[in-house]
Amino acid sequence: MFFSSKGVALLLSFSVALVTTAFLSLVDDVSAQALLVTWLLAFSSSYILIQITLDFLVFKEINKIYVMINKLRRKDLSFVEEQAPKSSVNPLRRINREILDYAAHKQKEINDLKKMEEFRREFVANVSHELKTPIFAAQGFVYTLLDGAAEQPKLRKKFLKKAARSLDGLDLLVQDLLTLSQMETGGIKMHYEHFNIQETVQEVFDQLESEADKKGIQLKLERTQLVTYVYADRQRIYQVLINLVGNAIKYTKQGGKTVRVYFAKNEEGIDVAVKDEGRGIPSEDIKRIFERFYRVEKSRARNRGGTGLGLAIVKHIVEAHKSEVRVKSKVGEGSTFSFRLPQGKQQTQLSLEMPQPESEEVE
Ligand SMILES: Nc1ncnc2c1ncn2[C@@H]1O[C@H](COP(=O)(O)OP(=O)(O)O)[C@@H](O)[C@H]1O
Ligand SMILES: [Mg+2]
Repeated sequence: MFFSSKGVALLLSFSVALVTTAFLSLVDDVSAQALLVTWLLAFSSSYILIQITLDFLVFKEINKIYVMINKLRRKDLSFVEEQAPKSSVNPLRRINREILDYAAHKQKEINDLKKMEEFRREFVANVSHELKTPIFAAQGFVYTLLDGAAEQPKLRKKFLKKAARSLDGLDLLVQDLLTLSQMETGGIKMHYEHFNIQETVQEVFDQLESEADKKGIQLKLERTQLVTYVYADRQRIYQVLINLVGNAIKYTKQGGKTVRVYFAKNEEGIDVAVKDEGRGIPSEDIKRIFERFYRVEKSRARNRGGTGLGLAIVKHIVEAHKSEVRVKSKVGEGSTFSFRLPQGKQQTQLSLEMPQPESEEVE
C-alpha cells in the first residue's frame, strides 16, 4: 500500500497539533512554554488515537480483505474454513464477511462438482463392467457356434439359447439404465390415479409365480378388510413391487419359505410391506443397497440375472411419490421393505370384492 498507517497518523496529528497551538497562540498571555506543551500533548495524543483507529479499524481490515482477494485470485480457498467474522457495524468487517460468504459458496460448488465427477467416473466404470459381462458371454456362444457347434442341432440350440439369455440380460440392463436416466432428467411424468393396491400386488404375484414355484417359495398376500385404495402411479408402483418381490424371491433360499405382502393403514396413508424369510442384509450394507450397482455379495457370478439397479429405481419411484423406502433386516432371518402411499378414493364398492378376513394364500 502506498500510505502506511504510521505516515498518515504522523501527518494528521502534526496538523491537529499545529491548528490547536495556533488557536491557543491567539489567546493573550500564553507563554511559549505552554504553547510547546500544548503542541506536544496535542501531537502525541492525536498520534496515538489516529494510529489506533487506522490500525485497528481500517488498515487491519483492509489488509485482511487484500489477503483474501489475493487468495481468491490464486484460487486458494482454504481460508474459507476459518471462522467468518460475526456480523458487525463496521462496514469493512461486513465486506470481509461478504467475501468469506462468497468464497464459502464457491468452495461448496467446487466440492459438489468434484463429488459429481467422481460419481460419474465410478458410474461409467460400473456400466462398462455390467455391459461387458453379457456381451462377452453372448460373444463366446456365437463364436462357439461359428467354430463348428452350429453343425450339431443339439448344441446349436443350446448355445443359441444361452446367447439369447445373455442378450436378454443386456436388454434388461439397458432398459433399467434408461428408466433411471429418464427419471433423473425428469423425462418420466407420473400418472397419478386411484387404484386398489391389493390388485396390483396380485398381478405382481401372478407374474412372479413360476419363479417362486421353482424355488418352492410361497407368495402370500395378507388380505385385509382395510380399503387399500391409493393415489399413485399404478405402472410405477407395479415396477416397485416387481423389484421388491423379485428380490425377496431371489435372495431367499430354496424350499419352505414364504414371501408376504401386507398393508397397514394410518392417518398419512397406506403402508405396503414386502417381507421375506431370506438371508437378510448386514446392517452396514443397508444404507448402501439403494446405490446403483451396489450388491451385498461381491461375487457377481452368484447373482446372475439382476442388473443391480432394481433398488435404485425403487427408491426413485417411491421418492417421486414423496415417500421413502424403509428396510428392516436381520441376517439369516429375513428382510422387510416398506413404503407409504397416499390414501386414494374408492372407485367401486370394495367390500363386495373383498375376500374373507383371514389371510388367503396365493398358490
Ligand atoms: N430381499 C433381500 N434380501 C437380501 N438382500 C437383498 C434383498 N433385496 C436386495 N438385496 C441386496 O441388495 C442388492 C441390490 O438390490 P437390487 O438393486 O435389486 O439389485 P440386484 O437384485 O439386481 O442385485 C442386491 O444385490 C442384494 O445384495
Ligand atoms: Mg433386484
